[in-house]
Amino acid sequence: MSTSDSDEDAAASGTGLRPRLTVIGTGYLGATHAVCMAELGFEVLAVDVDHSKISRLSAGEIPFFEPDLADLLRANLATGRLRFTTSFEEIAEFGDVHFVCVGTPQRPDGYGADLSHLNAAIERLAPMLTRPCLVVGKSTVPAGTAAGIARALARLAPANHSAAATADAGADAETDADIVPDLAGVQLAWNPEFLREGFAVADTLHPDRLVFGVASPAAEGALRAAFAPVIAQGVPVIVTDYATAELVKTAANSFLATKISFINAMAEVCEAVDADVLTLAEALSHDVRIGGNFLRPGVGFGGGCLPKDIRAFQARADELGVGVALRFLREIDEINNRRRDRVVDLVSAALDGTLAHRRLLVLGAAFKPNSDDVRDSPALAVADLLARTGADVTVVDPVATPNARRALPGVTYSETVEDVAADADAVVLLTEWRQFAELDPARLGQLVRRKLVIDARHALDGDRWRQAGWVYLAPGRPTGVIPSPVPEQRPRFGLPAATGPDAAARDAEIEAPVGRRS
Ligand code: UDX
Repeated sequence: MSTSDSDEDAAASGTGLRPRLTVIGTGYLGATHAVCMAELGFEVLAVDVDHSKISRLSAGEIPFFEPDLADLLRANLATGRLRFTTSFEEIAEFGDVHFVCVGTPQRPDGYGADLSHLNAAIERLAPMLTRPCLVVGKSTVPAGTAAGIARALARLAPANHSAAATADAGADAETDADIVPDLAGVQLAWNPEFLREGFAVADTLHPDRLVFGVASPAAEGALRAAFAPVIAQGVPVIVTDYATAELVKTAANSFLATKISFINAMAEVCEAVDADVLTLAEALSHDVRIGGNFLRPGVGFGGGCLPKDIRAFQARADELGVGVALRFLREIDEINNRRRDRVVDLVSAALDGTLAHRRLLVLGAAFKPNSDDVRDSPALAVADLLARTGADVTVVDPVATPNARRALPGVTYSETVEDVAADADAVVLLTEWRQFAELDPARLGQLVRRKLVIDARHALDGDRWRQAGWVYLAPGRPTGVIPSPVPEQRPRFGLPAATGPDAAARDAEIEAPVGRRS
């Protein structure tokens, strides 16, 4: 194993010798990992089969939205520590530790994980590994996958069965001895990643824990060298076997999904008895055994991880004959999906049960704020459901519009609210972008046809919107009853909307009980 040119710096900073790192796959996970490891002082070479992605990254452009990442990318490209390539030969030659960060999406034909990108990456890389090195899986995989990959490396990597190749690496092995004393051949480790989109840089530079699934002390040593600057911060390191490391990730995401669906289930019950789920969540959060994180009710979880990970976990448990243990995850998924229908019901009820030809202004397309990711986005799913009823849907999102257009072409998009608010029958907030929370309800009220807002993420100040004459509805909040259909404003769009005490009196009438939901 070779050492990088920055060894002297590294030694001086007390972090020891530094392995050269490669990153395979430059999506959210891989691009962030490559940039952050270079930021931590390592020499990093990242590879992807997508030439256009590599061109953009090499030019200092991040192909997705992630706060702070572009600045770090450009800074580290400028140091020369970070480079990108499409050549697997180059990374095989360069790397001491190879991080595999390719996607493992849901299979199109079922709940299981699609491991084709992972298998392809290993099959391509392994035959080129002619000297001792560590391959580190970071992708989220079903338990048991790493053991299979270790077997594939043992079979395919020349360094594992060629005495000549190992001997050729002798010159490098001298310096390796300082980093990883006993790493012989090509070994595998599993190191799940817990970064959140929108906080990817901070989560990678300062993770709350590191999990190392290893099969030898030498592999652990190599991983410790690769994470030395992070470990030096005092970050806990859990060293375990492959299967436990794989399970930590799927168990963590399952627990988070369960917490969200739990509070959303409570929202359903709150709706039935006219209770307030926000107050309930707050009261629960003061119990330190429960805690307040991931207890925000709303339209449910989405994104590229939680939904597909809980499904893949169920599929794997079925294969392992322990499907019954994870049967509750099916319910977690169902509760989550019901939230989307509930928002549609709220909009419909407030518009006299008729959505066809209603003009609906949907705020948000991304699965959460500070992201342009629309994978399994609750916001887009609701926009789709609304459009399928025949409503005229316009979606506004500060950054996710290009991705949303591709994922859901059948609706209209805009990047600004004011441009498309004219004649709206309802405003439906589905992603809690700060920009939406800061909207001026009085100003917006002058543009829309009906002052009806459905705040599916509890992101708006309901009192402020009500004071500005809006009918404010939010799932799980004590609206008490199906609201009477919200009438069109008189006078119509173009003239100042009614505000003040008269408007408040009118809204009190609008919200008069007409019947409880069953
Ligand atoms: C998640 C995990 O948090 C992360 O550790 C893992 O590595 C990848 O999956 P991410 O998908 O980026 O990260 O988003 P996260 O912040 O976890 O939110 C997931 C979804 O849950 C979002 O749609 C979010 O809006 C929703 N959510 C989150 C809630 O509805 N309520 C909450 O209280 C928290």
